[in-house]
Amino acid sequence: MTRYSRVIGTGGYLPEEVRTNEQISQTVDTSDSWIFERTGIKSRRIAGAEETASSMAEIAARQAIEAAACDPEEIDLIIVATGTPDRVYPSTGCLLQRRLGIKNCVAFDVQAACSGSIFALSIADQYIKSGAAKKVLVVGSEICSRVVDWTDRGTCILFGDGAGAVLLGASDEAGILSTHIHSDGEYEDLLYCPNPQAATEANKDEAGYINMRGNEVFKVAVNTLGRIVDETLAANNMLQSDVDWLVPHQANTRIIAATAKKLKMSMDHVILTLENQGNTSSASVLLALNEGVRDGRIQRGQVVLLEAFGAGFTWGSALIKY
Ligand code: COA
Repeated sequence: MTRYSRVIGTGGYLPEEVRTNEQISQTVDTSDSWIFERTGIKSRRIAGAEETASSMAEIAARQAIEAAACDPEEIDLIIVATGTPDRVYPSTGCLLQRRLGIKNCVAFDVQAACSGSIFALSIADQYIKSGAAKKVLVVGSEICSRVVDWTDRGTCILFGDGAGAVLLGASDEAGILSTHIHSDGEYEDLLYCPNPQAATEANKDEAGYINMRGNEVFKVAVNTLGRIVDETLAANNMLQSDVDWLVPHQANTRIIAATAKKLKMSMDHVILTLENQGNTSSASVLLALNEGVRDGRIQRGQVVLLEAFGAGFTWGSALIKY
């Protein structure tokens, strides 16, 4: 009998502070209308001074565990996707394990920038399908506000903070149908965040902020996400019309609309969260999935396509029978 990874619980957390486009336009040369028209974003959440990737991950994870009515001790593996870890080490996965009080499991981080939660889902799925794990907690958690240069209008308008979580359980019933992940390190220069502590003499003056050539990233993202739709449907012998929901990485409404068009899908079947969240990097897909599940739009048995694109470049998808 085929063994599947099934979504048994979802969770999400957004910090309290809201930062609007108007507020940003008081400090850099931009406007609410420019930001909204080019990106679809109106506001984003900003983590409090005491919050970290692991503290936000804990809240999202506890929600997912509660939704699944699961004893935390049953979790075999924790995978945290983050580009903004609390510490270089221990991993945010280990810090989350401690926060959740789980003794007997393995925990580690995955770093694939905005595609991180799709990469984490893919790894989790392999562990479950192979029989190596029965319950896997996948969390994407990011404090983008701390790696954004708030004087750079090209990037500071885009990003926000938050955490999304999903608990996967082994099942005979269909769940994750397939995952597809890719990387191409050739594109390092278009989107990167330096690590000042590990800098060489040559780049020691670079601050630890996101650097992006937005227009070029945009074009590659649209083409690449179009290709991943084809790849995912072909691998499952499915047509565009077989997909009920698109749960995309939330970077830019125009990128998302291009992917929906590729699926011949109306925007009514796309879970959109970026208007009030911005791009929460690896948290965004899981936050959107959680929203769609909790407000009842995504129903059991429906086919959901998750996809993301990020620095590296990295990109990937997960096709799920929810
Ligand atoms: N407000 C006003 N003007 C701005 C601006 C802002 N916040 N940011 C850039 N501009 C200006 C530029 O300086 C440029 O001016 P110029 O024509 O005088 O040189 C002009 O707007 C056009 O810039 P461009 O970068 O071509 O705009 P764009 O339409 O590509 O939109 C982004 C910029 C960043 C919104 C868009 O490129 C984008 O979303 N890219 C993808 C980003 C992404 O998804 N990143 C994460 C991947 S996970």
